[in-house]
Amino acid sequence: MRATAVAHPNIAVVKYWGKRDAARNLPAVPSLSVTLSRFTTTTTVEWGVDAPADDVQLNGAPAAPAAAEKVARFLDLITNGPRPRCRVVSVNDFPTGAGLASSSSGFAALALAATTAAGAPRAPEALSALARQGSGSACRSLWGGWVEWRLGVAEDGGDSHGTPLAPPAHWDIRVVVAIVDGGAKKVGSTAGMGATQRTCPFYDRWVETAPADVAEGRRAILARDLERLGRVMEWSTLKMHATMLTTEPSVRYWQADSLRVLDAVDALRARGVGAWWTMDAGPNVKVLCAAADAPAVEAALRAVVPRVETLGVGGDARLLA
Ligand code: PMV
Repeated sequence: MRATAVAHPNIAVVKYWGKRDAARNLPAVPSLSVTLSRFTTTTTVEWGVDAPADDVQLNGAPAAPAAAEKVARFLDLITNGPRPRCRVVSVNDFPTGAGLASSSSGFAALALAATTAAGAPRAPEALSALARQGSGSACRSLWGGWVEWRLGVAEDGGDSHGTPLAPPAHWDIRVVVAIVDGGAKKVGSTAGMGATQRTCPFYDRWVETAPADVAEGRRAILARDLERLGRVMEWSTLKMHATMLTTEPSVRYWQADSLRVLDAVDALRARGVGAWWTMDAGPNVKVLCAAADAPAVEAALRAVVPRVETLGVGGDARLLA
């Protein structure tokens, strides 16, 4: 059988960094995210093709061996036993592997398309827990709007999945993305997290303080309080990057232009424009602001880097007919 699914990437407003169980991909910290509009991953899975091996195509070319292997291992999770060869064709309409959360939309779309094509559909929570095993942040991309990824307590990770907190219509905000560098990141998130856990002297404090940040972020989202959300988002981001920077060897995703964008956001705030920034495992900067302020934010960011994209709040992952 064959199925096609579309998913949007999500950006964490309270961050995930660190695993309590690497084999099951269970997080050390809870997190909160907003699903982005417009950017999409579209993935078609053919379950059972007459071919000597799986065929994995990413953005119009055969996937690199490591990526193809990751997809194959993920497909293995769907059936408890042998599975047929599959063809997977996945396309992102935005930069891949550059800190724009392509793995979140990628594994959400793959989970939905593959389970449908295999004739083994899952309830949303179980689908989210499955997507989590491909990429942690993917468990938050099954839903649009604002999503919480709770730690869960079950040993098998069955209750560590996304939970929708508020739908897209709850709050019409904008995420203005300054694309500092669209190239692939230097250190993948799994390798970076592992190194942080092993070597960062502040890692335990990061883990201890994260639940309070999620509680604060949740309250801010439910109250539609942008300043409150912005403050905790920057705080969580700075703490996460502080642990990355103090990893041995240092995991430094920031570039000179990233810092110039942060200066531009400071200058906007000094002018009374409500704008707050976040960064992930890459040099690009995402700025949260009210819809009415997006043109001013966009102009300020464009003065630093040429490529700026303004996105709204996106919807659920879905199957295409
Ligand atoms: O889901 P992963 O393994 O790509 O890790 C995502 C980590 C961050 O993007 C840095 C933070 C987050 O919560 O999305």
